Amino acid sequence: MLRVWTKLAAGIFLCVVWPSAFSEPENLMAGGDFAGPALYEENCAVCHGEQLEGAAQGVPLIGGDLKHGETLEALTHSIAKGMPEKGMVAWESVLSDLEIKTLALMVKEYRAGLVEIDLTKEIELPQGEILSAHHSFKVDRITDQLDPFPYSISVLPDHSLLVTEKMFGIRTVSAEGEVSELIGGAPETHNDVYVLAEQGIEFGAGWILDVQAHPRFEENGWVYLHYTERCQECGDVMDDDNPPTSRNVVVRGRVKNGQWGDHEVIWSAPDFEANFYLDVVAGGRLAFDPEGYMFMTVGMRDMDGIQDLSSPYGKTHRVHDDGRVPSDNPFVDVEGAYPTIWTVGHRSPQGLAFDASSRQVWGTEHGPRGGDEINLLTAGGNFGWPLFSGGQNYDGTEVSHGRATSELELEDTEQPTVEFTPSIAISNLLVYQGEMFPEWQGDFLVGSLKATDLFRIRLDGGQIVEQEILLQDIGRIRDIDVSPTGEVYLLLEHRSGGQIVRLASP
Ligand code: HEC
Repeated sequence: MLRVWTKLAAGIFLCVVWPSAFSEPENLMAGGDFAGPALYEENCAVCHGEQLEGAAQGVPLIGGDLKHGETLEALTHSIAKGMPEKGMVAWESVLSDLEIKTLALMVKEYRAGLVEIDLTKEIELPQGEILSAHHSFKVDRITDQLDPFPYSISVLPDHSLLVTEKMFGIRTVSAEGEVSELIGGAPETHNDVYVLAEQGIEFGAGWILDVQAHPRFEENGWVYLHYTERCQECGDVMDDDNPPTSRNVVVRGRVKNGQWGDHEVIWSAPDFEANFYLDVVAGGRLAFDPEGYMFMTVGMRDMDGIQDLSSPYGKTHRVHDDGRVPSDNPFVDVEGAYPTIWTVGHRSPQGLAFDASSRQVWGTEHGPRGGDEINLLTAGGNFGWPLFSGGQNYDGTEVSHGRATSELELEDTEQPTVEFTPSIAISNLLVYQGEMFPEWQGDFLVGSLKATDLFRIRLDGGQIVEQEILLQDIGRIRDIDVSPTGEVYLLLEHRSGGQIVRLASP
């Protein structure tokens, strides 16, 4: 079923959200919907070519080094100041600062190959031994028989996996790659699709998101699921067509003989907070602190609730593994605050990982155009969205929603530890702990959707001291997990079927 909505309620920022099931909105960046292409077409294409490939009067802006530098600052400078003696206008007299930054970002996106992505290209795994800075490894395919849009994997002690397909439910995959039927009795999902006609963005309501086995799964068998529960009647329905709404819910249960049982609700957003849009920014990740706490991400639902402590959206939350509210949570004593809130001011959280050795929790999120982030989620931290951001809105304006009435200053907000500009469409991450690759101990392994690369990043004192691409062009990495013996598993989206691949010693 496909329904097209022609109306769009005011104040809904659908064009700034990230990834829907089908329409790969990151690719829309290259289309006419976003600032940049039109500006470029009008002012630059005549000399630099339609695709930045160069033309008679201007140099190519892709495919080789740039004479005047290619950092965002250098590009901004080149465009603003121009090289009048060589025929390049100083655009600062014509365009605004933001328009110039938009164009600089666009040039960076093209240079990084992030614009035209061929989604039908088959996933080709590199053969044989792959060399990297500290370890060589091989990559094997476990299965390519999943739905094109799987969301999460959790590797169990026997190397079998739990996997969620967001519009369908949960399955198991054996260590040998055999994919089970859908687990019966698990929370209901919906695979009908809604389209916002103006932006062409497609989305659903009622999806299964993260799955995580409890850190002591062998003893207790608990499986945790984060999903969005559909409700036809609740929430602030903003459209005459009465579209369904959804809200985030976390449950746990046990899987026995292909059935979900012992179901317990661990956390849920209240009914009245259900909303009709955007499972796509539902966040929906889970991470365990082996001491018995669980963290979860809940994406933004509308711009006004994100800085509001009485709304669960745009936040990270922390509960005990049975759902009780920890007495040392940062806002438990604040009147009217949602007591499970751990951090505030998130836009579209995509990844969550607990570092068992430092006892720190890390999150990834999609900024607006030009700023994907890795954040250290410290208790009570405010990450600033939608008041401040390193990136800019897709329409080329500055991020400043609600600043006029807020007391929050930029200095009060937490800054990302790692920032990716242009955006790689960061996905999940893990802090590697495992015997198989001892030299990666404590390093981040980070997936990306748009860049389709697997990154390894080492931090020291909050600074990046090492960064490499372990796998290039592997496909859209949606999730990443590690087995108890240290093999790294990646969950890949692909039109012809989602895949699970494994990195292991050669
Ligand atoms: C009338 C032709 C013309 C137009 C229009 C023009 N440029 Fe240029 N541009 C040039 C030329 C020629 C150069 C090379 C200058 C040099 O050799 O140092 C250049 C250089 C650049 C560079 C630096 C390239 C390098 O190698 O470091 C950037 C970036 C750039 N242009 C971006 C833009 C953008 C963005 C626009 C539109 C707002 C634009 N240009 C419009 C002619 C043009």
